[in-house]
Amino acid sequence: MTNEHTADAHTSPVDVVTRLIETRRSIKPADFSDRRVEDALVWQMLSNANWAPTHGMTEPWRFFVFTDAARLTLGHLLADIYSRITPVDSQKPATAARLVSNAERSSHLIVIAMKRQVSEKIPEVEEIEAVACAVQNLHLTATAMGVAGYWSSGKSICSDQLRQHLGLSSDDRILGLFYVGYSRTDWPTGSRSPVEEKVVWSSDA
Ligand SMILES: Cc1cc2nc3c(=O)[nH]c(=O)nc-3n(C[C@H](O)[C@H](O)[C@H](O)COP(=O)(O)O)c2cc1C
Repeated sequence: MTNEHTADAHTSPVDVVTRLIETRRSIKPADFSDRRVEDALVWQMLSNANWAPTHGMTEPWRFFVFTDAARLTLGHLLADIYSRITPVDSQKPATAARLVSNAERSSHLIVIAMKRQVSEKIPEVEEIEAVACAVQNLHLTATAMGVAGYWSSGKSICSDQLRQHLGLSSDDRILGLFYVGYSRTDWPTGSRSPVEEKVVWSSDA
């Protein structure tokens, strides 16, 4: 199933962007079909991610893309990391199995990382915020293309072990894994509590 929200000539740009933002959904690999996403679409997602705001132009987002056989290797590596970092008495076989099956069910896996500025002049939180903006760009672009995705931030993914495996330094951070595929179910609807509950608006002096 794809996400149908094509604009016609009478749709304003604000309507288009509002609809895009409201229809962006987290769709998990269990709901993906077997259809592979074309690499060119993933490149478009990455290219739009690259336009995120960045304090000091550090552009701290880094993406490690795994597809075809490489995605399966990553899935097994994550399951292996899970069994290494989780105390034996609290290990859940289903969690390790899901790391493998999530990879199998996905077309592409994108590890999301923050590359720390050498001078550390920009606060780390701002670099993480910049990467989050990049991921939103990526996810909105996927939505516009009818491509499903989901940002996962489990312990095995955001581990020192995976960070080292990817050649990142101790100051860098893995912020999650973005699973990419096509949804085989109806595009889900979302909900948010009213924005008015989250806004303090002042106009008097
Ligand atoms: C930084 C970040 C990390 C996330 N990590 C997880 C995760 O580990 N597991 C999960 O089920 N969802 C994760 N999510 C997705 C949220 O569950 C999802 O955004 C939320 O349920 C709202 O659904 P929506 O994205 O469709 O609006 C994460 C989202 C963000 C922003």
